[in-house]
Amino acid sequence: MKSQNNHSTSKSLIKLIFISSSFCALCIYISMVLMTIMKYQDMRSSTQDLPPTSVEHLVFGLGSGSSVWPKRKDFVRLYWKPNKMRGCVFVGSLPKSKDNDTSIPPLCLSSNTSQFLYTWGPTGHLSANRMTRIIKDIVDMNYSDVRWYVFGDDDTIFFPENLVKTLSKYDHRLWYYIGARSENFLASQYFSFEMAFGGGGFAISSSLAKVLANVVDSCIERYHYLYGSDARTYSCITELGAVLTHEPGFHQVDMLGNTFGLLATHPVTPLLSLHHVNHTNPIFPNMTNIKALQHLFKAANVDSQRILQQTVCYDKKLAWTVSVSWGYAIQIFPYNKHLPDVLRVPKTMKPWQRGNSMDTEYNFNTRPIHRDECDRPIIFYLNSISSGKDGIITNYKKSTRNCSRHMPSLKKLERIKVFSNKLDLDVNQLRSPRRHCCDIVPSIANGLMEVGIRECRNEELIFMR
Ligand SMILES: *[C@@H]1O[C@H](CO)[C@@H](O)[C@H](O)[C@H]1NC(C)=O
Ligand SMILES: *[C@@H]1O[C@H](CO)[C@@H](O)[C@H](O)[C@H]1NC(C)=O
Ligand SMILES: *[C@@H]1O[C@H](CO)[C@@H](O)[C@H](O)[C@H]1NC(C)=O
Ligand SMILES: *[C@@H]1O[C@H](CO)[C@@H](O)[C@H](O)[C@H]1NC(C)=O
Ligand SMILES: *[C@@H]1O[C@H](CO)[C@@H](O)[C@H](O)[C@H]1NC(C)=O
Ligand SMILES: *[C@@H]1O[C@H](CO)[C@@H](O)[C@H](O)[C@H]1NC(C)=O
Repeated sequence: MKSQNNHSTSKSLIKLIFISSSFCALCIYISMVLMTIMKYQDMRSSTQDLPPTSVEHLVFGLGSGSSVWPKRKDFVRLYWKPNKMRGCVFVGSLPKSKDNDTSIPPLCLSSNTSQFLYTWGPTGHLSANRMTRIIKDIVDMNYSDVRWYVFGDDDTIFFPENLVKTLSKYDHRLWYYIGARSENFLASQYFSFEMAFGGGGFAISSSLAKVLANVVDSCIERYHYLYGSDARTYSCITELGAVLTHEPGFHQVDMLGNTFGLLATHPVTPLLSLHHVNHTNPIFPNMTNIKALQHLFKAANVDSQRILQQTVCYDKKLAWTVSVSWGYAIQIFPYNKHLPDVLRVPKTMKPWQRGNSMDTEYNFNTRPIHRDECDRPIIFYLNSISSGKDGIITNYKKSTRNCSRHMPSLKKLERIKVFSNKLDLDVNQLRSPRRHCCDIVPSIANGLMEVGIRECRNEELIFMR
């Protein structure tokens, strides 16, 4: 490492100064200053001495099967950057004809895991052993200059730029296991609140991955009675004494139906992944799942870090609360709704399973949906996006129908235009997140409202003035 060379150079310099003139007060002073600077450099136990983490430092190990991959590859294509991203889609058997499609990751053959026992039960998946061993299979491929191994399913959508930003907070030379639990309370309770759910994706630092690759077989043998690969990986990491670092930008999406609530109230942290993308309803109305995701990526490709970030502002005159979930949707509550209540997740989704009264319990705060559609917030979905040197403009179109109870100004409102600048968070902003503020341009003309997003002022509070 470069900085160590610098240290030894300055050390010899100090020695030289001392030897040549031990009574030179100025020299002693200079050397003390030098030593103080060196001490501070040692204290910065971060990756500042290395080039910044980029997507080239990541290696992806995706789990799939040869029969489902042809259908799923269009989802991976949404985010895969050929020539920049490295990794493999692991399958149990390779197809006869080679696929030349370079816009998706190559297929790799999983190692043979038939010697391992699997005793979870009749409904489980023997492939759990194969999936667990992807960690070893990919480490054994000797990719160069890897900082992070990222694991996910073939129906996981990643947001690579945000992944890089988030992982750059951590030093890959230390042991890290970074992910998120399920949104579903019972699933988290059953598997563990400290387990990364692999559909949402998780990252393992290269230093931990190397150790894990060497010991994982013994864990696959010992944990033959567990359901899936996530639990085996978690058990192995736990036996090593390492723990999960929670990053809420990973989304397992253990739910069905309308995920609007989850997406519209994203935490103040970059969106890292979405899972089960073909199990849930399309995230935009009137589109297929894949078209809807492509639509979201139109915004994500322009400002990846701002995608889904929720900014709330108030119009005193109209007494409206406007919540912008950037690049996705806007909600208007035609009354004053305090910020903490706006941030609760509207329970638009259906449970993944039914049969237990706890099936609808989630690991976040929810608010119920009004029975009467006319009492619900008015929703505007992303329609188009443009960007130029003056910033980014996103347009949103009304999706909720007119209700007689709505005031005329609300009935007339058809479109919302949002102005923002590209978000580029530095490491301090990632470690100490702060929601942005917005302003509503007072006049609503021709059914159009305009909103500007900006950083909040130092002591600014988000409420109806
Ligand atoms: C996604 O779901 C649709 C409708 O259920 C289905 O036709 C399509 O094959 C699915 N795609 C994948 C990749 O599973
Ligand atoms: C794949 O590419 C090679 C070389 O470019 C070519 O010879 C081969 O026909 C291609 N195969 C398919 C299935 O397109
Ligand atoms: C996997 O290994 C077993 C023996 O451990 C062998 O019987 C089987 O044929 C192997 N499968 C493949 C696909 O190579
Ligand atoms: C990876 O490196 C190890 C140790 O040098 C070597 O034994 C192994 O064959 C290499 N694997 C590949 C796929 O190159
Ligand atoms: C969805 O499509 C239908 C029929 O094409 C159309 O009437 C409706 O306005 C569309 N809804 C939205 C929100 O675009
Ligand atoms: C809603 O009402 C306004 C004003 O009454 C009207 O201009 C607008 O076209 C209506 N929108 C729909 C979708 O019916």
